[in-house]
Amino acid sequence: MKGFEKYIPFVPQKIENRTWPDNTITKAPTWCSVDLRDGNQALIDPMNMEEKLEMFHMLVDTIGVKEIEIGFPSASDTDYEICRELIEGGHIPDDVTIQVLVQARPHLIKKTFEAIQGAKHVIFHFYNSTSTLQREVVFRTDVAGVKQIAMDAADLIYEMAQPVIASGMDLRFEYSPESFMGTEMDAAVEICEAVLDHLHADEDHKVILNLPTTVENCMPNQFADELEYFIRKLPGRERAIISLHPHNDRGCGVATTETGLLAGAERVEACLFGNGERTGNVDMITVAMNMYVQGVDPELDFTDMEKIIDMYERCTKMRVPERQPYAGDLVFTAFSGSHQDAINKGFEYMKEINTSKWMVPYLPINPLDLGRDYEPVRINSQSGKGGAAFIMHHKFGYDMPKAMHAEFGAVVQEESDRQGVELKSDTIWELFEKEYLQVTGPYRVLNSKLNADVEDGVAHSYFYGKIQHKEETIFEVKGEGNGPIDAFFNAIKDERMNRFEFIDYKEHAISKGSDSKAVAYIQLRDRWGNDFFGVGVDSNISMASIKGIICAINRGKKIEHIMEAMEAEQ
Ligand code: KIV
Ligand code: ZN
Repeated sequence: MKGFEKYIPFVPQKIENRTWPDNTITKAPTWCSVDLRDGNQALIDPMNMEEKLEMFHMLVDTIGVKEIEIGFPSASDTDYEICRELIEGGHIPDDVTIQVLVQARPHLIKKTFEAIQGAKHVIFHFYNSTSTLQREVVFRTDVAGVKQIAMDAADLIYEMAQPVIASGMDLRFEYSPESFMGTEMDAAVEICEAVLDHLHADEDHKVILNLPTTVENCMPNQFADELEYFIRKLPGRERAIISLHPHNDRGCGVATTETGLLAGAERVEACLFGNGERTGNVDMITVAMNMYVQGVDPELDFTDMEKIIDMYERCTKMRVPERQPYAGDLVFTAFSGSHQDAINKGFEYMKEINTSKWMVPYLPINPLDLGRDYEPVRINSQSGKGGAAFIMHHKFGYDMPKAMHAEFGAVVQEESDRQGVELKSDTIWELFEKEYLQVTGPYRVLNSKLNADVEDGVAHSYFYGKIQHKEETIFEVKGEGNGPIDAFFNAIKDERMNRFEFIDYKEHAISKGSDSKAVAYIQLRDRWGNDFFGVGVDSNISMASIKGIICAINRGKKIEHIMEAMEAEQ
């Protein structure tokens, strides 16, 4: 591809003995949602008052965010009004801090102070651009020039804040050297140190230094190097809370956030589903859930993901893509047969070793943790035999014997090839019903009695019944054995039905559904060595077995006709 020569490569910050690669994330950062500001300003149709209020309440009530940038009140009337409505309408819980953004310009700062009157907890967030490129192209100034803008704004804000703080507002300050990652680190340190000084920051009055990757222009490891260097060099680092504000231009927003946390950041500004300017702000959900699946409490709650998606899509008119981590429609689904098989084995293994730890291959998280429909397995032509068995077990409570998976899998595979589309679980159920539960002939048990007794400590079963063959013959049978299956086979031993060898048997109670029933799976073999299954369901477990045998024989008869026809041809 031509044209790459015109781009100027990022110049990495040199750093000796970096420590961040050896760190791990063991604790949630302070989260700040910027959905109502950065996210909102990037929408084709910015949110109206009603939508912003709905999103605010979702962030606070459902997700549990404690710091929320509610807007840019000096820049738009809607943002000013929402700020007033949130404060005057009593929408802000006592443990939630609102944040307002303003450029480092005096008249806008004054307007912003007006907007926050009456609020309990406020972060006053001001910014100016400090990057090499912006200094050269936009502001035509040097480091001293942008530093002066920041210091003047800090002075004015500090001065205007004093009476507000005296009147009881919990007012804190945040400064963003916009395009931090494109700023020379020594210059960023110099500017930020000056801002801390001018805001009279100390350990009891920490200032948030928000270090935005306004336009993501380097790799996450290079950003982490910058950050570690910056933090090391910043005089009086304990006066600052280091905050990240990653955008996602290179698609590395999540990685930049995570490496930034390793490098010492304590706070993250983010948006739901990665909404935000251009390619978006970092996705709060992915960063938080990545922590969760590493066994770290993210201190945010996404257990009602469907509700969050619904609100987000309605308010922003954006769409959550199918592959969006932790949220997309398809992210808890395996179509591939080998994946389905391994998922199946994961569930079995957890049961077998009786662990509460999550040990399911291909499923990094239990979908139930996000309130998602349990659909780890979906069936298309790529799916194997294990997938249909998984759905029958987990959705409908039929735990087929392993040997039966291939037989039913073939039925499902044929249907999915025929339809050429994904098969929904209801279709899988219909196929199972048709294949096993609705087999009505050629043999039918018209009436039957099963008795059991114990003689000299030995159990006996007795079967009596009337069986109809097609519409033609009705014959009476009786037999006894050491169990119902044995008794039934003895009863039919003189009939044409008895051409099959009994191979195996499994039964269990059906765990799904209201009325309690038992299911029996019977495996028979014909004289050509073909194995096939029958399924019987009944409230009486012995009758379920008998039904299962009849079902298997009836299914076997179909094969018998085919085999006989083949034999006749030879
Ligand atoms: O991306 C950015 O740099 C910003 C700042 C205003 C914080 O949104
Ligand atoms: Zn931003």
